[in-house]
Amino acid sequence: MQFSIVIPTLNESENVDLLLSRLFALDLLPGSFEVIFVDDGSKDGTPTKIREWEAHNKHIHLVERQEKPDLTASILAGVAIAKSDIIMVMDADLSHLPEQVPAIVAPILTGKYDVAVGSRYVSGGSTHGWPLYRQWLSRLGGFLARPICDVSDATSGFFAFRRELIANIAERARGYKILLELLMSGQGNLKIIEIPISFHDRTHGTSKLSLSHHLIYLQRLITLAGGTASIGTASRFAIVGFVGVFVDAFIFQWMINLSFGLALAHITSFLAAVTINYILNSKWSFRSHLEGSLNWQQFGRFLTVGLLALLLRGGVLALLVYTWHLSAELAIFPAIAATAIINYLGSAFYVFPESKNC
Ligand code: GDD
Repeated sequence: MQFSIVIPTLNESENVDLLLSRLFALDLLPGSFEVIFVDDGSKDGTPTKIREWEAHNKHIHLVERQEKPDLTASILAGVAIAKSDIIMVMDADLSHLPEQVPAIVAPILTGKYDVAVGSRYVSGGSTHGWPLYRQWLSRLGGFLARPICDVSDATSGFFAFRRELIANIAERARGYKILLELLMSGQGNLKIIEIPISFHDRTHGTSKLSLSHHLIYLQRLITLAGGTASIGTASRFAIVGFVGVFVDAFIFQWMINLSFGLALAHITSFLAAVTINYILNSKWSFRSHLEGSLNWQQFGRFLTVGLLALLLRGGVLALLVYTWHLSAELAIFPAIAATAIINYLGSAFYVFPESKNC
């Protein structure tokens, strides 16, 4: 057995026959590969179809997961029962041409590479049949991953690798981004090759990619880049932000009413809010990333981010008050909102960063 092909399935009954016929028509030595399907509770008879093939071919296997459907978890389950140490992963919907399997697995079989990525975006690669928005999303996904891992198609689902790499994949890895996890697992020491592929959108069935998969991907990219941005930290940060807004706005309005100048009211209310925000963010929003208790160094970083935000806020405030003639009492709110994003990203990446795991 030279390699194992792991194929995740979710309602792919119309594709199984065609896929297996084409895989077993490849000009490869008989018994040189096995096919492991991992199904996540398909309701369209996919497992029955695969079982029919399995009954007549000892190189075809089916794993039926009972857990919550998940692409990455399915691939990991397939790898767990693979007989070979060289793993090939592909979609079941024929968007990945079975005829390109030998070209992708070859660099791993020779032992010269650790991961071979079937890429739509290297010279010679292509995408067919996708609407424009899918093409853009896919390119954007690859583009965003570029700073942390130098491949052209980090979201490809068509790739081969040495099985031992799977041990380094984060246990929490979920969703459509298993290739990215694999690429990051080698901490820059992997030998990676990209092979051009021709991607053809499915003819039968529908894509299962949803908005939540995109968000999970984005969040994971941020974490891999060293940030701690997540729904959890963002929600807590937002709540703390609201507390800050009240403190800020209250002190600001109070000082304006007492006829203090705009600049003094703005700076004083800012400093009061930033101190309260730092305490709440370190003790609560980013509590799992805090190295011990409150410390001056961290407060310094928080203040630096805050000061940058203050500059930005001052600019927005001046623009709204002096150019757009908005009242100061009203203008403070959009000014605070504009800087909240800078504050959050600064906190997630600079003040309370993740200890890097890649
Ligand atoms: N077991 C399991 N569980 N399989 C799944 C799940 C799941 O939760 N979700 C999707 N699949 C299977 C599909 O049945 C198919 O074989 C493959 O994963 C790809 O799913 P699609 O939903 O059809 O993906 P796509 O066509 O939008 O393609 C995008 O994602 C793929 C992930 O591999 C593209 O970016 C592809 O390049 C990429 O390969």
